[in-house]
Amino acid sequence: MCGIVGYIGNKDSKEILLKGLEKLEYRGYDSAGIALQNGHGIHVFKEKGRIADLRKIVDGNVTAHIGIGHTRWATHGVPSKTNSHPHQSASDRFTLVHNGVIENYDFLKREYLSNVEFKSETDTEVVVQLIEFFVNEGLTVLEAFRKTLTLLHGSYALALLDAKDRETIYVAKNKSPLLVGLGDGFNVVASDAMAMLQVTDKYVELMDKEVVIVTKDQVTIQNLAGETINRKPYKAELDASDIEKGTYPHYMIKEIDEQPLVMRKIIQTYQNEQGELTIDSEIIGAMNDSDRVYIVAAGTSYNAGLVGKQLIENMAKIPVEVHIASEFVYNMPLLSKKPLFIFITQSGETADSRAVLVKVKGMGYRALTITNVPGSTLSREADYTLLLHAGPEIAVASTKAYTAQIAVLSILAEVTAKSQNIKVDFDLVHELGIIANAMEVLCDSKELFEHISREFLSVTRNAFFIGRGVDYYVCLEGSLKLKEISYIQAEGFAGGELKHGTIALIEEGTPIIALATQESVNLSIRGNVKEVVARGANPCIISMKGLNMDEDSFIIPEVHELLTPLISVIPLQLIAYYAALHRDCDVDKPRNLAKSVTVE
Ligand code: G6P
Repeated sequence: MCGIVGYIGNKDSKEILLKGLEKLEYRGYDSAGIALQNGHGIHVFKEKGRIADLRKIVDGNVTAHIGIGHTRWATHGVPSKTNSHPHQSASDRFTLVHNGVIENYDFLKREYLSNVEFKSETDTEVVVQLIEFFVNEGLTVLEAFRKTLTLLHGSYALALLDAKDRETIYVAKNKSPLLVGLGDGFNVVASDAMAMLQVTDKYVELMDKEVVIVTKDQVTIQNLAGETINRKPYKAELDASDIEKGTYPHYMIKEIDEQPLVMRKIIQTYQNEQGELTIDSEIIGAMNDSDRVYIVAAGTSYNAGLVGKQLIENMAKIPVEVHIASEFVYNMPLLSKKPLFIFITQSGETADSRAVLVKVKGMGYRALTITNVPGSTLSREADYTLLLHAGPEIAVASTKAYTAQIAVLSILAEVTAKSQNIKVDFDLVHELGIIANAMEVLCDSKELFEHISREFLSVTRNAFFIGRGVDYYVCLEGSLKLKEISYIQAEGFAGGELKHGTIALIEEGTPIIALATQESVNLSIRGNVKEVVARGANPCIISMKGLNMDEDSFIIPEVHELLTPLISVIPLQLIAYYAALHRDCDVDKPRNLAKSVTVE
């Protein structure tokens, strides 16, 4: 979703900002812009489309030691040059970039700005016009900025330039992520550390409702009352090579290939010196104290949560409910007496999940966040965090984070079970090792999946994924992958449910991808396949060794029945990837999607 960068220092900011925006492309956007400030004023360049389009219109002759930039994912107003950021106040004195949603923008417009002529349809323009309004009323810029912030309802990360001051970027945040990066003779602003890793790995976290005055030599953090807050910087533990594609054509395929490595990293990180899996005793205590676990998540993380339910209930014997974050906020179920909340979120920034976290923390409940991003908002605000150690995930379609989430959930389930002397009938470290090897085998079979994808998906307009038990959960993820990047209308179904309505959609040649990795339902899922084949469907059965039959299209290596999602998802990820390639889709940056969804 929207991304922000800013630079103030001794160098020309143009290339630093553009490179920073390129690093934020993965979050999803539909237009972009930069504002460069020098002795001649503030020069704004913006364009609909990609950063590459923006580059074409940026005047190479403009140099500036201070600037801000933005990638926009449209919320208020269509994606267009006019609606893209930066936005400027009526006199052009103030220039602003914004990530988030101002809920009361219409009210503020009517209340304070009825005489102002607006150029865009955005909520952001209201903010920049308000700042100018209060400056015209006699407030200093800082006072006007603060006053404006006190009036805003909603979420924001903001970076502001004043044409009359070439020494300062004003920054503030509420609910939306924003960091300040520190350098020698310069400072930067960024939605995430990856954007500015090119110039610094030293960052300061910002808290909600703080105002930050950034000059080239100083960063002053204040609360809304104007009191100064001291905060130590931290070093971003990111390797610049982790965020490069290297020789891969797309991040998605690189990240699919990284899954065996991530499995091994997770095993190592969660093992103690005796080789046993271990998790902070406070987290295990919270699991044991709870009478029911509520997993809350969105998208792929929700799909991983469904598998997590199976793992925790089977291994640790604690009942689990899995909820979609955006529904849970407004439609909370009756809670048990001692609930524990687990938030699963790759980015740690998803606004829907965060809204639930804030709500349940307010009710006095404990919360654990399972995330890939240390220091992310949901990590900071929960009582406990478990990290995925998957390395940055750049492709919008989540792959390695999904398998990492399931692996960490399996470890949580195992350690909890052991702490209660519940016998787990397999050695998880050993099984995860087998899984890492099996993942390698699958990643080495790309040609086969390319072939399957071509055979089943190159011309179809829809596709169905069916499975039973955990296979059904993986089908939900497989169908999500396919629709996200290839735009084929795809749905995941419980094998037995298809005939209760959806079977009406089956026509001659409709592709059905069926998973058969569970012994107890192997015959019934095959029966469901027969039902659709009888109506003309084109079946692609992916089974597990030992359960395979002659008609199967692919056989995955044998792993423990509870852990099959870790590998059965890989064929589906690869099939989706190749379907997108065959259809000439932008694999890493699918239309309309954002990686980090920071608005509710
Ligand atoms: C977006 C992304 C999905 C992701 C979901 C939840 O919709 O496009 O890939 O699964 O957000 O994100 P989270 O960071 O909370 O896991």
